[in-house]
Amino acid sequence: MKQILEAIERSAIRIKHAIDVKDIGYSQEQNSSGETQLQLDIQSDLIIEEELSHVKSVHTIASEEKELPMLLSETGQYFIAFDPLDGSSLVDVNLSVGSIFGIYDGEFVGSKLIASCYVVYGPRVELVFAYNGKVKLYLLQEGEFEYVKEIHLNEKGKIMAPGGTQQFWAPYHKAMIDSFFTTGYRLRYSGGMVPDLHQILLKGGGLFSYPGATDKPEGKLRQLFEVFPFAMIFEMAGGKAIDGKIRVLDKVTAHVHDTTPCFFGSKHEISVVADVYGRN
Ligand code: F6P
Repeated sequence: MKQILEAIERSAIRIKHAIDVKDIGYSQEQNSSGETQLQLDIQSDLIIEEELSHVKSVHTIASEEKELPMLLSETGQYFIAFDPLDGSSLVDVNLSVGSIFGIYDGEFVGSKLIASCYVVYGPRVELVFAYNGKVKLYLLQEGEFEYVKEIHLNEKGKIMAPGGTQQFWAPYHKAMIDSFFTTGYRLRYSGGMVPDLHQILLKGGGLFSYPGATDKPEGKLRQLFEVFPFAMIFEMAGGKAIDGKIRVLDKVTAHVHDTTPCFFGSKHEISVVADVYGRN
């Protein structure tokens, strides 16, 4: 696991450099979710692939930017799913973006996720690693990731990050989000999953939601690369992650690029979601 974390750290430093200096023009390609890939998406994907290919314990990788999983080493134990540069369309407006990693033991199944990591490329570069029941924050300082602290969520937070297009939300979902705002929650939504969830984690709690809606019944966010890794991080930090009704890590993934509705938050907010969705 140490070697995997070190490969992620090296990738993060190289991706940060690419963000700082490289052309961010659109490529001619689309990824498996039909999004036009940026040169930076492709470059970040290749950087991570190359760094992980040096780690013998990595059996297979799956990337949001690759149609199919890629075998790296027959004798490896770990299956790593990653979103190389989540929210990359925010780079041109200079908002924060991130990389997300899920480390699975033997197969790409939610219940086999054993560690998660994400990197935030913002005014500073931070890395969060969840493993063995602990969620640890690191800060990039002069080329090294230095440990800062453990992350813990409060029972209840103050931040609301409601994803998706309101026009397509179910009426009960809209009523629930409105009721959070009328009880004092404040809107914090940049459109980048990594910084939006990072803010909730570091400010002690709140709710990030990306529901199923009439335009996207299964939501937008991908199970293996985005939802499961953050679900593990929220649970280890003392929060919860559900799809409205069930724990997201118990969901069955049929295809590598499957999406799911998702709610991440501290315990209070998730109990409200479970109550509302349980009745609808
Ligand atoms: O998966 C891509 C992504 O950019 C996430 O980082 C983000 O949470 C989400 O899409 C935003 O989607 P929307 O603009 O539909 O709220």
